[in-house]
Amino acid sequence: MNEARDKLIFALDVQSLEAAQNWVERLQGKVKTFKVGKQLFTRCGPEVVHLVRGSGAEVFLDLKYHDIPNTVGMAGLEAMQLGVSMFNVHALGGYEMMANLVDKVNEACASTGGQKPLLLAVTILTSSNDETLRRVGIDRSVKDMVVRLADLAKQAGMDGVVASPQEVRLIRDACGPDFKIVTPGVRPAFASQDDQRRVTTPAEAIELGADYLVVGRPISAAVDPIEAAEQILQEIQLALIKRRESLWRS
Ligand code: C5P
Repeated sequence: MNEARDKLIFALDVQSLEAAQNWVERLQGKVKTFKVGKQLFTRCGPEVVHLVRGSGAEVFLDLKYHDIPNTVGMAGLEAMQLGVSMFNVHALGGYEMMANLVDKVNEACASTGGQKPLLLAVTILTSSNDETLRRVGIDRSVKDMVVRLADLAKQAGMDGVVASPQEVRLIRDACGPDFKIVTPGVRPAFASQDDQRRVTTPAEAIELGADYLVVGRPISAAVDPIEAAEQILQEIQLALIKRRESLWRS
C-alpha cells in the first residue's frame, strides 16, 4: 500500500495550526504529503510546514507563484529551504520565470546537497473557461492553452503540472511519461461532488496517467475519514496494478 500512499496528497484546507496538527496526526501512515495552500500559509506561516515535516510527512506548498523571474526565483529558494517536497508557479508567468526558477533551485541543491523539490506549473485554473480567457485577450481554447503551457513548462525544465483529471491524457500525450501530473478534483464513488464540476474517481485519474491525487473533502468530510482514506488508497493501488498490466500488454 506504500505505493498508493505516496500518490495521495491531502488538502489541509483548515484555518489553524491546531486543526492542521489534528489532521496530520489522524492521517499518519495513510498520507505521505499534505498540501498547504494560501489561506493556511497566510494565517500560520512556515510553522505549519515545520509541523507537517516534524511528523515525518511531506509538504506540497500550493502558493502558485506568479511574478517577475527574480522574485519567483527567490521565493522558490525560500520554499526549498523550508524543506517542502513540491511547490508550484503559474505557467502564465512565462518561460523565463520558470527557467530562472529551475536554474536557481538546481544550483542551490548542487551547492547544499539538499533534496530538490518537484517544481510544478499550474496551466489554466480549472475555474477558467474559454470566455474567461477571451476577456483577458486570449483567443485560444482552454484545452489548447493547457497543452501549450504544459509544454512550455517542460521546455523550461519544470518537473510537471497541476491539472484537472480531464486534461491528464492530453498532457501525458504532449509531455511524455516522465512529466509529473498532479490532479485535484478527484471524487471516489462514495463521496459528494461538492463544488467540483468535472470530477473523476481516484481509479480513473490514475488510469488516465496521473502521478499524484489531491484529495480534501472526500476524506475530511467523511463520517469516518480514516476509512475513507483507506478506501481511496485501495482504489489507487488497484488502478496502479491495472495501469502496469496494460503497459506490459502494449
Ligand atoms: O476538497 P477537495 O478534494 O475538492 O480539495 C481539492 C483541493 O485542491 C483544494 O485545496 C483546492 O483548492 C485544490 N484545487 C482544486 N482544483 C484546482 C486546483 C486546486 O480543487 N484546479
